[in-house]
Amino acid sequence: MSNAARIDGKAKAAELSEKITAETTALRDEHGLQPGLAVVIIGEDPASQVYVRNKGKRAESCGFYSVQHSLDADTSQEAVLELIDELNSDDKIHGILVQLPLPDHLDEQTITQSISPTKDVDGFHFINIGKLTSGNMADAFIPCTPAGCMLMIEDHLGADLSGLKAVVIGRSNIVGKPMAALLLKANATVTVCHSRTPDLPGVVREADIVVAAVGRPNMVTGEWIKPGAVVIDVGINRIDVEVDGETKSKLTGDVEYESACEVAKAVTPVPGGVGPMTITMLMFNTLRAARLSAGLDS
Ligand code: GUN
Repeated sequence: MSNAARIDGKAKAAELSEKITAETTALRDEHGLQPGLAVVIIGEDPASQVYVRNKGKRAESCGFYSVQHSLDADTSQEAVLELIDELNSDDKIHGILVQLPLPDHLDEQTITQSISPTKDVDGFHFINIGKLTSGNMADAFIPCTPAGCMLMIEDHLGADLSGLKAVVIGRSNIVGKPMAALLLKANATVTVCHSRTPDLPGVVREADIVVAAVGRPNMVTGEWIKPGAVVIDVGINRIDVEVDGETKSKLTGDVEYESACEVAKAVTPVPGGVGPMTITMLMFNTLRAARLSAGLDS
């Protein structure tokens, strides 16, 4: 029997998007300012193409100025840096995102660090990472996936996580590390686990909050979950399943949803949980970048 609440990321994201759209209209009416988002994609990775198209569509539906730069897979590092330079000094653009992963010949570090920290709506620049980890959040950009996860955690547990144990599974720069920093800022006691962690199930079983971001389908089962925990599943894994003798492709998270629901207080589904929140937080960051550029509080 399933007791847990299904955390509806899609509904929360839609609600937040409506607010962002209304604030965008007000910003145009009151200050003549339209948030602008530039998304750069290099190469043909099919999943990235879908993500980037969705980001552009969402930006337009929020009322933003939206541009996409699609560069060939063999574009030189110099040409990418030149484009970023142009976007850094373009007054119509407030947010710049270079879709990852990059083709092998390009240096991810050099490219992400060349984006102006004030337009870094991904929150990948060292300046923004430093602001986040030192707790100076006033004008910091927080990476979109952990920012979205945090809003869903707050919905169920409040903004102050004092006395609660949080376990983050995965130590990536995009999710695991910034997620841990946000949970710590909210006063949780945080453990970051990874592939070398001994007795991972035992560690997870202690947690009131579990954030799974490893990319291993259905790895975290109900047996790992402390009764009453809030479980956030960041995984987006494509697996083959047999349906009526046919092999079909299906999206699944890092958490075995059904068994987790038997024990947890609340669980995010995949799809429909973290994913829709991530794209919405990108819009939130872009609106914020536009407001900050005009000296307005966010
Ligand atoms: N690729 C997968 N996730 C992300 C993200 O959050 N930002 C960027 N730029 N690329 C990604």
